[in-house]
Amino acid sequence: MSGPLDMRVVNLHKRFVRNAVLRGISLEFPKGQITVVMGPSGCGKSVLLKHLVGLLRPDRGEVWCGSTRIDNLPERELGIVRRQIGFLFQQSALFDSLTVRENIAFPLREHGMKLQRLIDDKVMHVLALVGLADTADQMPSELSGGQRKRIALARAVVLEPRIVLYDEPTTGLDPIRAEIINQLILKLSDALGITSIVVTHDLVSAFRIADRMVLLHEGKVVLEGTPAEFRETTNPLVGRFLRGEVSAEELAQIHKSSDDHRTGTTRTP
Ligand SMILES: Nc1ncnc2c1ncn2[C@@H]1O[C@H](COP(=O)(O)OP(=O)(O)OP(=O)(O)O)[C@@H](O)[C@H]1O
Ligand SMILES: [Mg+2]
Repeated sequence: MSGPLDMRVVNLHKRFVRNAVLRGISLEFPKGQITVVMGPSGCGKSVLLKHLVGLLRPDRGEVWCGSTRIDNLPERELGIVRRQIGFLFQQSALFDSLTVRENIAFPLREHGMKLQRLIDDKVMHVLALVGLADTADQMPSELSGGQRKRIALARAVVLEPRIVLYDEPTTGLDPIRAEIINQLILKLSDALGITSIVVTHDLVSAFRIADRMVLLHEGKVVLEGTPAEFRETTNPLVGRFLRGEVSAEELAQIHKSSDDHRTGTTRTP
């Protein structure tokens, strides 16, 4: 099987004890496109991504990967779906005791690949994709933060996934290194024809890479649409969010004032 796959969540609810994090999220992540998910810290962006790979199970609602419903799949069958999804975690999470080469080979071995030459070929292919072929025999501790992100990215795509989830891929990087990551996300999206879902705080990065944008707040979708629709939204508070000027209280107001969450019809409060 190859080619991109779409993903979809329907009326997703997730609560941790008294903390209702996702409160009815319905979203589509179209195949082959880059969807950027934004929202204030703690609004549930990482929790949403974890539902997309089955690391968390919803209290209510559905998660679909192509035509497969995955929120209720047994762990064993979930493994087959996960094979198609690359995940770049918020913390790069490389294994400190393994070389770059062995870090990237890890998912291949985990999925039963044994031929050393094939493993080496695949590792070197993705290392070249992220522009770090010469680091194969270094240890992660010898690399910069930006380089470690790129290695983690290489590891996330080494199984040739049809979907890649990125959690804050540019956070903590200076603008030049962030731009390298933006270009890589665009390149991987093009070169591998994958569906990309990117969680970010970084508005520059968001507008640079997005085909579609989603704004979450208090466990709900406040706004979704194209970057142009986000820029042109008539809601002044959303505009201020996009300029990084809006407080959580004001965002709550946006939410109350918009019956329809799609940008085209968002009303001014
Ligand atoms: N496994 C868990 N157990 C209990 N609470 C959790 C768990 N995972 C997340 N939460 C809570 O869910 C809420 C949303 O967390 P999440 O990590 O999704 O936020 P986020 O939007 O990704 O924030 P940030 O932008 O800071 O990464 C937070 O209040 C967090 O404390
Ligand atoms: Mg997060």
